[in-house]
Amino acid sequence: MVEASAEAQSRFEAVIANEQRVEPRDWMPEAYRATLVRQIAQHAHSEIIGMQPEGNWLTRAPSLRRKAILLAKAQDEAGHGLYLYAAAETLGVDRAELTEKLIDGRQKYSSIFNYPTLTFADVGVIGWLVDGAAICNQVPLCRCSYGPYARAMVRICKEESFHQRQGYELLMTLMAGTDAQRRMVQDAVDRWWWPSLMMFGPPDGASPNSERSMAWRIKRHSNDELRQRFVDMTVPQAEHLGVTLPDPALAWNEERGSWDFGEPDWSELMQVIKGQGPCNAQRVDRRRAAHEDGAWVREAASAYAAKHGRGKGSAE
Ligand SMILES: [Fe+2]
Ligand SMILES: [Fe+2]
Repeated sequence: MVEASAEAQSRFEAVIANEQRVEPRDWMPEAYRATLVRQIAQHAHSEIIGMQPEGNWLTRAPSLRRKAILLAKAQDEAGHGLYLYAAAETLGVDRAELTEKLIDGRQKYSSIFNYPTLTFADVGVIGWLVDGAAICNQVPLCRCSYGPYARAMVRICKEESFHQRQGYELLMTLMAGTDAQRRMVQDAVDRWWWPSLMMFGPPDGASPNSERSMAWRIKRHSNDELRQRFVDMTVPQAEHLGVTLPDPALAWNEERGSWDFGEPDWSELMQVIKGQGPCNAQRVDRRRAAHEDGAWVREAASAYAAKHGRGKGSAE
């Protein structure tokens, strides 16, 4: 990165202050670029790894309709990963390098995907809660100060909303079924509720980089604000569905006009982030194996591109 002239620096600051977009060719502070690379890469990795927990049920979906819906959702997530890797590449990094960092553990993905999917009700609960939490996190990113990231988020959010609805519709169907099906839904809600709250990250007091990301308008709301928004949105949906959220502290707070809720177990989040969640090793091993199995496709694409004078292949 070229040393900033005072003029470039003030132009950058004006773009942020005026709610305009920073574009790939514009000068930007190195820390702004590095923060975006880390965030967008982590987001892209989450989309790709996030296909695994539900992909686990593709061959066992209970009907053709459920299978078609689940396939469409998993394919959307692959697409989200691709847009996001492309957005990261506008910041001067290479997708192959990001994939290497994911499979050797130098870059993270969302801790939520390290939990197992034990029954088909998990597919519904992931759509409802996990995609629901993702929507709360991602809608404000459509106004992120970095243009390519903000634009990628617009389409991603539309698709996430389909994911949430398919999950909720699946749960409504199960809840109208047998007692065993209702118990299956409740069990899945019990297992996914707290990890979903943890998707918003640590509490504001323990999230040191948040403030700077908010000043740069990469982030628009704090972790705790987004978590509260998610709880307020989800409680009435749980009532309508007829499930109990596993939190005895959940209570309507008239004064705040919001739901009070209990404290997630932050030590669990730290363990999962450190790699000690139930499925961390399996998720990364599968991703590594898929990457290695795809080596011949990358080689063939590069050879084809070289033969046609287009240099390095872009397929991976
Ligand atoms: Fe997604
Ligand atoms: Fe999704």
